[in-house]
Amino acid sequence: MISLKIYIDSADLDEIKKAYEWGIADGVTTNPSLLKKAVGKRADINMKKYIIDILKTAEGTPVSLEVTTETSKEMIAEGKKLYELFNPVAGNVVIKIPVNPAYTDADKTHFDGIKTIKALSTEGIPVNTTLIFTPEQALLAAKAGARYVSPFAGRVDDLIRKNSGMSFGKDDYYPHDGKTKDGVVQDDTGVVSGIDLVSQCVDILRYYGLETEVLAASLRNPRQVRDAALVGADIATLPFPVIADMLKHKKTYEGMEAFKKDIVDEYARL
Ligand code: E4P
Repeated sequence: MISLKIYIDSADLDEIKKAYEWGIADGVTTNPSLLKKAVGKRADINMKKYIIDILKTAEGTPVSLEVTTETSKEMIAEGKKLYELFNPVAGNVVIKIPVNPAYTDADKTHFDGIKTIKALSTEGIPVNTTLIFTPEQALLAAKAGARYVSPFAGRVDDLIRKNSGMSFGKDDYYPHDGKTKDGVVQDDTGVVSGIDLVSQCVDILRYYGLETEVLAASLRNPRQVRDAALVGADIATLPFPVIADMLKHKKTYEGMEAFKKDIVDEYARL
């Protein structure tokens, strides 16, 4: 049976442990910012041991570890090093590679992500391609052999809102069909929302029978998770607070209160 897989987008070991104990996690995605947030300046933490704990906690399900270098030579070496060091622990390491490590159009490293994906995939190392902002980037990463492509939904919404002068909070819901300004639907390169980006990636990869999985990333609220499921994403990677918010509803609380009162009365007669 196929179902939406849920990964936990976190490097916080306590959060990861809870998600696995409760049976709701199918994988973990980390990035350098998440590791910094989780471990910070804690001198008592041994990073190697900490990552090993994450890998063991994930019970053999995929854990993405991101490279921190920028040329293909460096990223291939770093990806192999991370894989050789950590994959023997639980056989579940995925190396996260930026689709394009350049900073500007003028840089010379635009193909270094693709070269790295090809090299690592050819050696049997699974790659999760990160920082995907267009369906074309996803297509090229898939063709180069990536196991996963990660369209960054929330950051696309941020970009469209910023370019359109909309005020917004980071976690605000942005509709799949986009928003209009002066009667025109706002977009970035023909993408009208983060979920539209996910949807276009899913459509293109499915249309051509590519096996790369679409991992909806940068999801910031439960409705975006629902939308990602509705457009057929293979995986949604979620920060722990978003998973918690998925369970909340005012009428659920009200219903609980009412049941609780009745249960007390009825069970008193047992
Ligand atoms: C996961 O792979 C990404 O690094 C993460 O989802 C980014 O989320 P953010 O845009 O909220 O930082």
